[in-house]
Amino acid sequence: MDMLLFELQKNSATPLYEQLYESIKEAIISTKIPLGSKLPSKRKLAQFLSISQTTVELAYGQLLAEGYISTKPRVGFFVEDLESIPLVETSVATPLSPQQQPQWRYSFHPGKVDSTHFPFTAWRKYAKDIFDVSSKELLSLGDAQGELALRTEIAHYLYQSRGITCDAAQIVIGSGTEQLLPIIMRLLGDDARFAVENPGYSAIPRIHMKQVIPIAIDDDGLRVEELANTAANVVYVTPSHQFPTGAVLSMKRRAKLLKWANAQAERYIIEDDYDSEFRYIGKPISALCGLDQNNKVIYISTFTKSLMPSLRVAYVVLPPQLVLAYRNMFNYYSCTVPRFDQHILANFMHDGHFARHLNRMRTIYRKKHDVLIESLQRYTSRVTVFGEHAGMHILIRLQHDKSEQQLKALAQAHAIEIFALSDYAFTTEQQKTPTLLLGFGDLDEQAIPQAVDMLMAAWSIKKD
Ligand SMILES: Cc1ncc(COP(=O)(O)O)c(C=O)c1O
Repeated sequence: MDMLLFELQKNSATPLYEQLYESIKEAIISTKIPLGSKLPSKRKLAQFLSISQTTVELAYGQLLAEGYISTKPRVGFFVEDLESIPLVETSVATPLSPQQQPQWRYSFHPGKVDSTHFPFTAWRKYAKDIFDVSSKELLSLGDAQGELALRTEIAHYLYQSRGITCDAAQIVIGSGTEQLLPIIMRLLGDDARFAVENPGYSAIPRIHMKQVIPIAIDDDGLRVEELANTAANVVYVTPSHQFPTGAVLSMKRRAKLLKWANAQAERYIIEDDYDSEFRYIGKPISALCGLDQNNKVIYISTFTKSLMPSLRVAYVVLPPQLVLAYRNMFNYYSCTVPRFDQHILANFMHDGHFARHLNRMRTIYRKKHDVLIESLQRYTSRVTVFGEHAGMHILIRLQHDKSEQQLKALAQAHAIEIFALSDYAFTTEQQKTPTLLLGFGDLDEQAIPQAVDMLMAAWSIKKD
């Protein structure tokens, strides 16, 4: 073949042999050097390019090692058959355009929390304190279950506020309910058959990817008697504040549900207590887990509503028998929440800031909740409120000839974000009366009446 003419930069920081190796490799890949062709001898190429023979030797050696060329003793070097060469194609993939986030004038998203009253000053103090050389041991991996300091604070909080007696050793910390659920599912085994509330939180069906059994909800929460007629052995419930209908699981049903679980060894209840901190009338509803005498409840909760969704801290309280299984199965695992973040939160809780923050936020959310309900009272002839007095959203039933999805689209066309009850349904039957969720977490209290008026105008609903 012709002599190889490559432009090599003698003053470059890249060694000459590497430049030569890259140039030949590129020529082989782009088939500028035909397959099977013989490369010039080391001596000839060195002479031609005015470089040392050692440079050529190093470049050929690298090409040989990577399989771009082969050598026949006393004959020379040959370009390998391309088929056996890992071709690096410079593909011109269609660039993915960044996802456009719609700009809402008002958002009734039920997952949004207040963004104006976060205690930045206190949080910053704990963050500043922990990022110090005195915490250098936090640079290495910590306990897979999460930092003991944080688990201790959580156990204390659960005892004080949720009526749950548990040991820090039963707690596993992870970066969200959705990140902890796969762990619970693995602990329960491949044969577990899940029942979920319908409508309900979609995490289980999305993560599980197998058929789940939907169980209807009424004013008293999950219809436990229906559960008993299914093949399910695990049920996912939100007893304190059913998501999304807001129903509270009645005491009678709680007892029934625990009885159902006790009837068979492989039965479990997963209790999701996601926003139980916020109740605006009466006493807080205690957790189902606190009533469980037989280690049948796997309790899961999160700081998403009580602090912020972006914190990514949630936790599970495992019954003792599952703690041992967890330790065996997940002994390779690392906690998904950074240790520093866990200590910031633990210290924040330890010094009473979390309890103070919850009290403050309860008042703020209660006000927003009340203003929202008052604003809706101007439309009572066509709008009925339910699922109120807790959490960060309420529901409205509408006298309207349009479907839920049509109403949602109308609101969106007016730059209002809203969700329909059917967005959370696992079955397709239509609601007789269109029902929508109104989240108020991050709405400005002063703006709520105007947001409601605009929403009603979008639906052509006039004031009473
Ligand atoms: C029922 C329910 N559980 C849990 C969560 C929280 O999930 P995560 O801890 O992954 O933020 C949500 C989300 O807002 C929810 O609606």
